[in-house]
Amino acid sequence: MRWREIGLLVALLALAHFAPGVQGNSKMQHGAKLMLMEELRKANIGRDVWAHIPKNKRSVWEAHDGRTINETLASFTDIPVDIVVHIKLIGFDGDGINHVKVDEAALTRYLRGLHLDLQTAVLEPELKHLSLRPRVHFRVSKAPVSLTHRVAGVLTSFIFGAMQGKRPATVYVPHRVVDDVLAAEEAGLQPGSTHAYHAAPSSEGGGSDPAHLPALLTLYVLNLEPPASADYLYTYKEEDAVVAAGNWSEFRSCPGALFASEARAGGGGSLAWVDLAAAPHSYGPLRGGQGQVFPHSLPHATAFLPAAASTAILPDLAALAAGAVSHLAWPALQHGDLALPNKDGGDDLEVQIIHIHDTLAVPPRSVDLEVLRQQLAGALAGSLMAVQVKEHFLAFAMCDLCVNAYTNALRVRTQRQEGSNVVASAGQILDRLVLHTTLAEYSEIILAYAGVHQTHNVLPVFVFDLSLRDEPLLLDGALQAAAFPGMVIAVASRAAPVRTRFSCGHMPRSLQPEDATRAVLGAVLQSAFGAPHTAQRYSPASGPGWNYLWALGATPHGPLSSLTTLSVASGAAVGRNLALAELERHVGRVAAVLHGLNKLSPPHKSSLKWAIERTDLRNRVTARLNVAAVKLEMAVSALSAGRNAEALRLARHLSTDASALERAALQLDAQLTQELACRGGTDWTVLLWPPAGSLVAVVAALWWRSRGARLKAEARYDKIY
Ligand SMILES: *[C@@H]1O[C@H](CO)[C@@H](O)[C@H](O)[C@H]1NC(C)=O
Ligand SMILES: *[C@@H]1O[C@H](CO)[C@@H](O)[C@H](O)[C@H]1NC(C)=O
Repeated sequence: MRWREIGLLVALLALAHFAPGVQGNSKMQHGAKLMLMEELRKANIGRDVWAHIPKNKRSVWEAHDGRTINETLASFTDIPVDIVVHIKLIGFDGDGINHVKVDEAALTRYLRGLHLDLQTAVLEPELKHLSLRPRVHFRVSKAPVSLTHRVAGVLTSFIFGAMQGKRPATVYVPHRVVDDVLAAEEAGLQPGSTHAYHAAPSSEGGGSDPAHLPALLTLYVLNLEPPASADYLYTYKEEDAVVAAGNWSEFRSCPGALFASEARAGGGGSLAWVDLAAAPHSYGPLRGGQGQVFPHSLPHATAFLPAAASTAILPDLAALAAGAVSHLAWPALQHGDLALPNKDGGDDLEVQIIHIHDTLAVPPRSVDLEVLRQQLAGALAGSLMAVQVKEHFLAFAMCDLCVNAYTNALRVRTQRQEGSNVVASAGQILDRLVLHTTLAEYSEIILAYAGVHQTHNVLPVFVFDLSLRDEPLLLDGALQAAAFPGMVIAVASRAAPVRTRFSCGHMPRSLQPEDATRAVLGAVLQSAFGAPHTAQRYSPASGPGWNYLWALGATPHGPLSSLTTLSVASGAAVGRNLALAELERHVGRVAAVLHGLNKLSPPHKSSLKWAIERTDLRNRVTARLNVAAVKLEMAVSALSAGRNAEALRLARHLSTDASALERAALQLDAQLTQELACRGGTDWTVLLWPPAGSLVAVVAALWWRSRGARLKAEARYDKIY
């Protein structure tokens, strides 16, 4: 007996001797963290990785890190995401316009001076900032000479070819001439290697360049002497005959000097370029509209005295880079209420196009489903989310509610064509907000009559197909489609093209009222994924605003273009927004618990030790907080590298720990419970329903509701069929 006790004592002493000191402990923690990260990389959604850690290995996670609750709280409420934007210069070595020589280090200094204290803004319903905010790091490099030669070569030979025997006022260069060369250059870069660069740390002094990160956005700036001093502009996917006619009203996209590419940059991020030698011109909304692009909206080396050009152009280049960040690299979210993968339903979003038509027969096609499917699938590639696009037809004659909504929203408005002195003409418009109000009220009923009985994870797109009508009719007199929370409304008619309040040069831009595909695509991206209009910008200093510089070419928004393809940058916003919204949801839940715990601890002793007396409970909370921190860290680094689908998956995993913390909090204190309930952000269904039960309950409730709604509707609108 004695011997055994002594043996035990010896063993304990030996253990104590080897007991992890500070270093040993952190080494163990490091090892455990690596194991958890490995596990998380493969774990299926719904698997609680913590629960699968063997009991004897949990103590590392239960070790408290000595931070106050407030400090831990801060790590869940203010979360910097390092992002890299790489500016690549071509023709800034004295070999370009005005012999400008831009020193990388000098431009780097200006970029740092921008003080881009960016936030992740959510614009609607009221402006707010997310916990995750970008910390922008700029890299600046000169493109290799060989690339400069190739770009100059293709431009020269195209422009000389176009000028053969004639001297057009403007030479139109297809964007592919330059885009293909730059995309090929980027594709040829070794993964991880990139042109040697100068790095600017983020302007808030947030540390050095995260050299391991690929650039989220690579922006080429071209400053090559225009070949044969030609005035040239880029066109986007135009047909030769249209270009030859030269009427900008008929171009698919207003020509321009830049392009947000559909190709990826070397590190997988988005690629864009600006050619400062292209002919300056103006485009955007007409008088009174914000965000018009003017000839001087882009820097031009010729605008400066030769002696001063090299320095004078720097602030303009920096401003151009800043604009590219807020439109292409880290745009605001239109709203935060995204069609997130749902915990109690499938992960699929169903976009249900409901054609409400004035004919008795099925109307001519106004929305091309294939285009929607392709573009949405491209934007969500690799993600947990998938989108299905379906369509249904509902004749006005069959749906009094639809007629009701339509006639309620119909307004007569007088309008005068821009610049015309002719007496104003009266035209009809559909009031967007009135239409939304009525449709929102009856949406489930209308969906049910259209044959959509499952309204869960459904984004309804109500398209008013007015093919009997040859007068133009647009939402608010300007839009073919409008995005609302959980709904898109569109209108299509047989009318001739309608002039908009946008111009390209001095030519007005028009809409084709019979095809709403592109407008619907843009509105679906806005409504379901919070992706803003390409021209929407936000800065903490001046708030939300507009700038149409990048609203050309591959964008689904605005009448300056009619292309239905998406740039990589606009597609990336979808994946990023999903991850951001899911992360915000769960870090918010963790923060709410921490807030509560802070209230429980005595003043000046903000520590879990004081807040939670029961050791086992405290250990559990500590471990969950540590595990959540690891998941958050992984999700943030995936976002930094543009791996948005992975960030969303990890964000999803965070939900398990948030729920566990809420459960622990419930056990703790009734007072705390009240605290949490008041915060509203906490998802109480997690606590009330076990996961499997919730699925059944929700499906049953929905079925009941739609059945009830149908009965109600039948009573009230007896002749709906
Ligand atoms: C250009 O096209 C628009 C729309 O088709 C037309 O109304 C306009 O008259 C044309 N302008 C010229 C100068 O041909
Ligand atoms: C934690 O921070 C909040 C506000 O930031 C403060 O009111 C509170 O006193 C702090 N608590 C402790 C214990 O330091």
